[in-house]
Amino acid sequence: MARQTWTGPVRAARHALWVFAGALVAGCMGEGGSRWGGGLQSTIRPESDSARIIQEVYALVTWIDVGIFIVVAGLMLIAMIRYREGARKNVDIPKQVHGNTLVEIIWTAVPAVLLIFMAVPTWQGIFRAAAPPRSEGLRVEAIGHQWWWEFRYPDLGVVTANELHIPAGKPIVVKTYSIDVIHSFWLPRLAAKIDALPGKSNEVWFTPDAPGLYYGQCAEFCGTSHANMRMLTIVDTPEDFDAWVERTKSPPAPATPEAQEGQGLFAAKACVICHTISGVPGAVGVIGPNLSNLKDRHTIASAILKNTPENLVRWIQHPQQVKPGALMVLPIPVDEAEAGKLAAFLTSETGVGGN
Ligand code: CUA
Repeated sequence: MARQTWTGPVRAARHALWVFAGALVAGCMGEGGSRWGGGLQSTIRPESDSARIIQEVYALVTWIDVGIFIVVAGLMLIAMIRYREGARKNVDIPKQVHGNTLVEIIWTAVPAVLLIFMAVPTWQGIFRAAAPPRSEGLRVEAIGHQWWWEFRYPDLGVVTANELHIPAGKPIVVKTYSIDVIHSFWLPRLAAKIDALPGKSNEVWFTPDAPGLYYGQCAEFCGTSHANMRMLTIVDTPEDFDAWVERTKSPPAPATPEAQEGQGLFAAKACVICHTISGVPGAVGVIGPNLSNLKDRHTIASAILKNTPENLVRWIQHPQQVKPGALMVLPIPVDEAEAGKLAAFLTSETGVGGN
């Protein structure tokens, strides 16, 4: 009877183990993962020089660990099965020994050698990843805010938020810092994770391989909406990147009456106090995200919603509902029709057009 009572907890533990394993696999695959490492935020599918260095060390250590696990768990399993209570009657207890110099030398030497095999490439990887790029890179500043990312391009005179555009094949030098609490800048497929600290800057380098979309995530708990502090990196061809820069520098050119009314509301509803839109007079606020060239953005609300008119209206009207704790406040409430006009204005083609 005593044995019976254990089946429940054992079964529960087994189920919990499967759930845990599933969560681990899902974590590795990331968003949209349809197979191992297929996700946009995968930690095991590098798409840059820097991410590949990390992946090489990670793979080496993982495979050595898998080997150790198989040997150790295999021996344990043999011992557990062979000497289990029910079978013990038929098996003689092996010779009991105490102290064996040869065995002790082996189990000291083997782990030491394995550790050297892991330590040397890890050491090399750290130095390779930390070496500044040889050719001149594109400088970007990634600034953490509760709960969104600001991206500044000091050499190009462009500022944007939450979606980082970078050209493929060119070294990118990201300087991170924060204006409030500690955040952590992390693009799993592209770059090493690096803290964004208030009062001190850090730098990270990488050269993206090819055009594509890569999600990132704030990786340091930073308050209520930490989990909603995402970012999207768009690796462009160099030509597309230059065109994006030009579009982002240009003011929106509202073409419809709705969008034109939206421009008036953007000032009348005091949105301009917190937000900048490149080339729009009066819209020079720096507390909230820069909204230049919203037309080109794939996502809104720090990459948690797709950039659709419906989502934008909802986000404008109910920021705290979309992102709990969001610091965005509406100084003057807007109704749904007004939010629609604002959305139409914000997503207007910019002056140079051609998306
Ligand atoms: Cu910012 Cu977590």
